[in-house]
Amino acid sequence: MSQNLYQDIRKFYDASSGLWEQTWGEHMHHGYYGKYGNYKLDRRQAQIDMIEELLLWANCNQNNPPQNIIDVGCGIGGSSLYLAQKFGSRATGITLSPVQVSRAKERAAEAGLDDRVKFEVANALEMPFENNTFDLVWSLESGEHMPDKAQFVSECYRVLKPGGKMILATWCHRETDSLAGELTPDEIAHLKEIYRVYCLPYVISLSEYRAIAIECGFKNLIADDWSMAAAPFWDVVIDSAVAPQAIMGLFQAGWQTIQGALSLSLMSRGYARGLIRFGLICATK
Ligand SMILES: C[S@@+](CC[C@H](N)C(=O)[O-])C[C@H]1O[C@@H](n2cnc3c(N)ncnc32)[C@H](O)[C@@H]1O
Repeated sequence: MSQNLYQDIRKFYDASSGLWEQTWGEHMHHGYYGKYGNYKLDRRQAQIDMIEELLLWANCNQNNPPQNIIDVGCGIGGSSLYLAQKFGSRATGITLSPVQVSRAKERAAEAGLDDRVKFEVANALEMPFENNTFDLVWSLESGEHMPDKAQFVSECYRVLKPGGKMILATWCHRETDSLAGELTPDEIAHLKEIYRVYCLPYVISLSEYRAIAIECGFKNLIADDWSMAAAPFWDVVIDSAVAPQAIMGLFQAGWQTIQGALSLSLMSRGYARGLIRFGLICATK
C-alpha cells in the first residue's frame, strides 16, 4: 500500500512542481497572513514570512545558529536554500520526487550554494543518514503525506543530534476530544476528498502529533495551531490559478494537477468549517 502511495506522491510532484514554480515560486507551503489572518500580503512574501515566523516561534536564531540542517520533504529546495543562506549552514533536502531533486540542485548551483546544500531522493520513513547527524530537522508540510506518522517522527528524532531541534508544520484535522466530538461522516468524506486529490494517506490531530513526539523521547515540546494565520493562502492560490498562464500550464502538467487545481476550494472550505488545522510542533532531543 505504501509503495503505491509513494509512487503517487512522486508522480504528483514530478508533474506539478514545474507549474507550481512558474506560477507560485519556489516555496510549496502556506503563507503567514498575521496571527489573525488579516494581513494583505504578496503571496511569496507571506511564504517567506511563514519561514521567519516559524523560526521566531521556535527560537531558532543567529545566537545559536544550526550548522547542519535536514529539510524533510524539501520540494524544490525553497526552505533548504533559504535556511542555509540565512544561517551560513549546511543543508540536505530529501523528497520522493526526482524532478524536484534535479530542479533543487540546479537552484543550489544558481545560488552558488551547491558546495553545502545537497538534495537527494529519499524516503523520510527510512532516512539514509546516521543517527545524531543534524542539529535542525525542518519539515514544512510533508507530514501529511506520511503513511506512518510515528515512524516519521521517530526518524526525525533518530537523525537529530542530542540537543538538536525539530520544527514541524503539518496539515492536521481538528481535535476530537473537544465539544465537537468525533469527526462526523460528512467531515470524514470531506477529508477523504482532500486525501485523494493531494496524495495523502490520512491526517491526524495536533494532540496526536504531540503524543507521538513525546513517546519518541522529544523534550521541551511546544505546539501551536496557526490555522487562522495560514488559511487565507488558499484564496490567494485560487485567484492566481485562473490566470491564463496558469491554465495553460495546468493542461501541460496533466490530469492529476488539473484535479488538484479544481479542488483548491476543498482546503479553503476545510479551514472555514474548522476541520483542517495548520499544526506546529517544536521540540528538542
Ligand atoms: C507540499 S511539498 C512541501 C515542500 C517544501 N517543504 C516546501 O515548503 O516548499 C511536500 C513534499 O514532501 C515530500 N514527501 C512526501 N512524502 C515523503 C516521504 N515519504 N519522504 C520524503 N519526502 C516526502 C514530497 O516529495 C514534497 O517534496
